[in-house]
Amino acid sequence: MNRLVHLGGMLVSMILLSACNSSHGQPKADSEVLAPSQILDFATLYGQNCAACHGAQGKGGAAIALADPVYLAIVDERTLHNVTSSGVRGTSMPAFAQSAGGMLTDQQIDVIARGIFSHWARNGILDGSNPPSYSAKTSGNASRGQLVYGTYCASCHGSQGQGGPKGSSIINDSFLALVSDQCLRTIVITGRPELGAPDWRGNLPGKPMSDQEITDVVAWLESHRVQNPGQPYSASRYAQY
Ligand code: HEC
Ligand code: HEC
Repeated sequence: MNRLVHLGGMLVSMILLSACNSSHGQPKADSEVLAPSQILDFATLYGQNCAACHGAQGKGGAAIALADPVYLAIVDERTLHNVTSSGVRGTSMPAFAQSAGGMLTDQQIDVIARGIFSHWARNGILDGSNPPSYSAKTSGNASRGQLVYGTYCASCHGSQGQGGPKGSSIINDSFLALVSDQCLRTIVITGRPELGAPDWRGNLPGKPMSDQEITDVVAWLESHRVQNPGQPYSASRYAQY
């Protein structure tokens, strides 16, 4: 009797197993594995290509948060698309377009650029605040920028930008070597909300920075770039070799 029960059990599990087997190798149409260039889902594309630097869900990481509605109110979709396609030379922002040596099709970059706006932008968030322009409209003046720095930034980043109790050094040559002028401007405008850095309105409460002040303070930061960042000796020492 016991044996029979046992046998019956085995039979049931064999049937179950074979039922499983017969469905292997015949995936349903919607579970097909897509070729990388066919992926058109925003979350997947963002997660695979951007999250490592810009953070999961655009929350920020080594690079700025893209899920920042203030950022998305000053940058336009065209610019975002172009930066993603071509990257930023001299920085770790890669070029993603196949035409620029990357892995993504134009259509995929469209999905990413559109998705960033449709998921994370907030319409009207800067209404009434006269926001500065994304790109610099005039050339900056570094000596005026030094005064601007003292007014708006020194309280956190130290009297000369060397770092202070509430902000790190922003004149460090290896930091400046890896960051573009536009990125400095972007950060002065948007801050890094995820790290507690204020946007252009919040450095000195009640006194938003003007567009020109932003341009000038960025010129002052740029004036700290050095020819050979991170090298302890002057370049001439190496010239003879
Ligand atoms: C390996 C790190 C890395 C990856 C991966 C990466 N980025 Fe970036 N990204 C950066 C850095 C660093 C910057 C700032 C570059 C600079 O100095 O201008 C940047 C800048 C940007 C900017 C311009 C910010 C501005 O100032 O307006 C955009 C837009 C952007 N990235 C989008 C993306 C998107 C979309 C993806 C994924 C398809 C992506 N990035 C993947 C590192 C990365
Ligand atoms: C209330 C304090 C505060 C003020 C005021 C402030 N910042 Fe910051 N800033 C921060 C914090 C916090 C961070 C992010 C963490 C860090 O780098 O220290 C930051 C980050 C930055 C970064 C990016 C540094 C990096 O390593 O990625 C730059 C550039 C910068 N600030 C420039 C400025 C400039 C220019 C001003 C003035 C116009 C300014 N900040 C005003 C607190 C401040």
